[in-house]
Amino acid sequence: MHSFTDLVASFESRFTASLPFPQTPETIYDPCRYLLQLGGKRIRPVLCLMANELFEDISEDAWSAAFGIELLHNFTLIHDDIMDKAPLRRGKPTIHHKYGLTAGILCGDVMCIYAYEELAKIKKSLPQVLQLFNRTAIEICEGQQLDMDFEHRNDVSIGDYIHMITLKTSVLLACSLKMGAIAGGGLGDSANKLYAFGKNMGLAFQLQDDYLDAFGDTVKLGKQNGGDIKANKKTYLLIKALENADVTQKKEIEKLLKEDTESKVPGMLELYSKTKADIQCREAVAQYSKMAFDCLEDVAIPAKRKHPLLELANYLLMREF
Ligand code: IPE
Ligand code: IPE
Ligand code: MG
Ligand code: MG
Ligand code: MG
Repeated sequence: MHSFTDLVASFESRFTASLPFPQTPETIYDPCRYLLQLGGKRIRPVLCLMANELFEDISEDAWSAAFGIELLHNFTLIHDDIMDKAPLRRGKPTIHHKYGLTAGILCGDVMCIYAYEELAKIKKSLPQVLQLFNRTAIEICEGQQLDMDFEHRNDVSIGDYIHMITLKTSVLLACSLKMGAIAGGGLGDSANKLYAFGKNMGLAFQLQDDYLDAFGDTVKLGKQNGGDIKANKKTYLLIKALENADVTQKKEIEKLLKEDTESKVPGMLELYSKTKADIQCREAVAQYSKMAFDCLEDVAIPAKRKHPLLELANYLLMREF
């Protein structure tokens, strides 16, 4: 079994050495290379490789799946940054900021098609892999639209939020694991339990992402700090703050939601802390992580073999970027 660190390193060198893009037109492919060479945590492809290694020595099919997954993920980031008006990604200007909106739209589109080129190389169980991948990609679009719709709504519940982040984020982590398992001939039950593990881990992951967007460090994060607050994103923090607020605090939050001022972010952060929404968000991260660990324990594979997955899940819990 390979460790988490080993797999990240192998993925990184193999992926960046064999990016599928031609040289020209450089106006579309340079931005693609720019983003992909900035790294990223590579969690999703590594989950796919780890799940595959539970069932066989990592196969070429698993590598193709891992490449396809990382390309799809980066495509969603390019379009997400346009939608979220984000200036920074992985510590550098976002594609649409550096190269313009057209490049952002088209690089995203072409990257998504190249993801399918990678998947098309898969020899074993391609119909099942493709069905899962397509369902997941559709769900991400649905989740991203809900995320945007929620910016303009003030009646979003925790249930609505969890549904939205399940779609926009957690299904891709789950799908990555299941694709690796299917490629390795993993039995239905194990593949489904790995999917459940990924889904819960994905929820913890997005909750943590929202927490870091508010309270994290821009330099470590490589993303603009407070972007969710500026965009009136309905995060767990905001929904809980509204739930917990007394009458005065509720009025303050509602006033800040209508503002576009320098004091909006610090003002909202103070209210997140005063209402203890920050503590509750961290508790929710711990809760979904615990559910994820329980699902992993249920997978009928010797505990020792699951060690890299545990390592990765623990790393996500501790992360600051
Ligand atoms: C960012 O994903 C998008 C979310 C779903 C929160 P990551 O935090 O995995 O981004 P990279 O690939 O490591 O940059
Ligand atoms: C993005 O969620 C989810 C997808 C890209 C599908 P966020 O908008 O919170 O991701 P970041 O914070 O920009 O990475
Ligand atoms: Mg975003
Ligand atoms: Mg977004
Ligand atoms: Mg975010």
